[in-house]
Amino acid sequence: MCGIFAAINKQSVTRHLIKGLQNLSYRGYDSAGIAIVDHSGLQRRRAEGKIERLIHCLETKPLEGRVGIAHTRWATHGAASQRNAHPHMTSRVAVAHNGIIENSHQLRTELESRGFHFESDTDSETIPQLITFYLNLGLEHDQALRSALERLEGSFAIAAVFDDLPDCIFAARRGSPLALGYANGGHFLASDINALKSVADQACHLEDGDLARISLLHIAITDQHNKRVDRPRQVICEQQSNSDRDKQGFRHYMLKEIHQQAGVIKRTLGNYLPGADNTIDFPLLPFNLAELQRLNIVGCGTSHYAAMIAKYWLEGFAGLAVEVDIASEYRYRDGPVCASTPSLFISQSGETADTLAALRHAKQCAQHCISIVNVVDSSIARESHVILPTMAGAEIGVASTKAFTAQLTVLFLFSLKAAVSRGRINQTEKKRLQSQLTLLPSIIDNFLNSEHRILAIAQKLQNIEHMLYLGRGIALPLALEGALKLKEITYIHAEAYPAGELKHGPIALVDASMPVLVVAPPGRLFAKSLSNLREVSSRGAKVILVSDQQGIDEAQDYIDAAIAIPTIEPLLQPFIYTLALQLLAYHCAVLKGTDIDQPRNLAKSVTVE
Ligand code: G6P
Repeated sequence: MCGIFAAINKQSVTRHLIKGLQNLSYRGYDSAGIAIVDHSGLQRRRAEGKIERLIHCLETKPLEGRVGIAHTRWATHGAASQRNAHPHMTSRVAVAHNGIIENSHQLRTELESRGFHFESDTDSETIPQLITFYLNLGLEHDQALRSALERLEGSFAIAAVFDDLPDCIFAARRGSPLALGYANGGHFLASDINALKSVADQACHLEDGDLARISLLHIAITDQHNKRVDRPRQVICEQQSNSDRDKQGFRHYMLKEIHQQAGVIKRTLGNYLPGADNTIDFPLLPFNLAELQRLNIVGCGTSHYAAMIAKYWLEGFAGLAVEVDIASEYRYRDGPVCASTPSLFISQSGETADTLAALRHAKQCAQHCISIVNVVDSSIARESHVILPTMAGAEIGVASTKAFTAQLTVLFLFSLKAAVSRGRINQTEKKRLQSQLTLLPSIIDNFLNSEHRILAIAQKLQNIEHMLYLGRGIALPLALEGALKLKEITYIHAEAYPAGELKHGPIALVDASMPVLVVAPPGRLFAKSLSNLREVSSRGAKVILVSDQQGIDEAQDYIDAAIAIPTIEPLLQPFIYTLALQLLAYHCAVLKGTDIDQPRNLAKSVTVE
């Protein structure tokens, strides 16, 4: 997590640094800081809290200069405070760091025993202290930097400026991304290439082990063997439209993004169904769907729940065995990885550390790796054999909404393609399902017109402390995702369980103080969910049912509230049910007054383990 931005320019870079941090705040927003170097040495400003606090600090104590580094933090080691905010510095060097230094404790003990004094609780401060140690031994700047980096275990991306080198910035990476931006007036550095798009016209990604020395006119990159290298540059342009960046009259980005879902599904469908002939236009996959025995799908958070939904589709109507994994488990489980089983990785950001590591692990095991990503120049996209992009546009709210339904859209098309290739459905059925799919945007827009009914239910829930979500079959991942949304943005403790597991434990929690939300779409499992619903109702729970009108009528005597979902093609139910749960969480959060777009302790892109 955390974001790094750095700039060297003919004019003062302060405003670029602030703009860069604002673009990167999705990676963390609990403190921020900048350091500037000029002929009088190093100076910095830091502030606890969001970037606005740093801006305020700079208004009262301005800091201008032509060379600077900046950082927005998501705390891993040490509280979110000004003292722990980056850049960290000694009298000789200032460093902004992303990642985790796993041996920081040993290094700190060693340095302290040599008389070095630390001022923060962070792992990151080890880096400037260690560089200073090597400088004190008489090493040149780049040698001191390289020697320090060699001692570090874990992952990092860093930007560093030295007090006696006012004309250059150093950058290095191992495990965490960093990109260099080339512009007319100067050079830039960012931990996400997208943050460079408003200032640079060309960019390149640094590779693991690279060390770059950036001056106004020149960038010199050396690789892990200390050999000069060139990294391929690409032309970059501002892809984010203004409509992505402003709230367009909505109170929060999250609400705007919920309302964008009809358009996002339409755009994603348009990308894969370009012609009138109903062909699903995927890039050439590195495996034959017809002959596939098994597929692994891996992701984190909401992307993991998208994978769980796809399992029901791929197994249920495409006849393909699917194993779904949480990336952080998959990468360390030491399970047998079969080279003939491909893996599909799902990630909105394309930068999630565990998903990226899982992808690298699968590639090392000679698996074919494809991924569904929203950011097409992300690390996961670049390292996959084939990517299937989602067309969600920039998602700014930390809680994922439109990226999720865009992932579902691609996964449904993937399942359809697999079902046809494997002879599980014929062309007529494929055509029927595709035409149902194209109806989704208007169904979603109609559903959104009844948002006020969900607000009324949220009003009943605003003072609760816990909530249990239940679901069966494909409704289970929907319940899990609904509970995740609620806890992320309202801080209400929400758990989701397979309804069939109710009697194996969670029912012990149920009484009048535990509302239970049951996701029960019509279908063969409805009657079973209804039994579970009655079980919790008879123990005093307030029950909210999410189902179609017929289901609600059947459950009428046992429920306290209901969200009616239009009756649609059963395979497509996840698209609408998830919308209802997103809106419920959103309106509860509005009533509770939480920071909906940037909830406490969370980050949009989780780039450390
Ligand atoms: C974070 C975000 C979630 C997201 C998850 C996985 O936790 O807050 O919204 O689902 O990371 O992110 P990815 O970018 O890999 O989909």
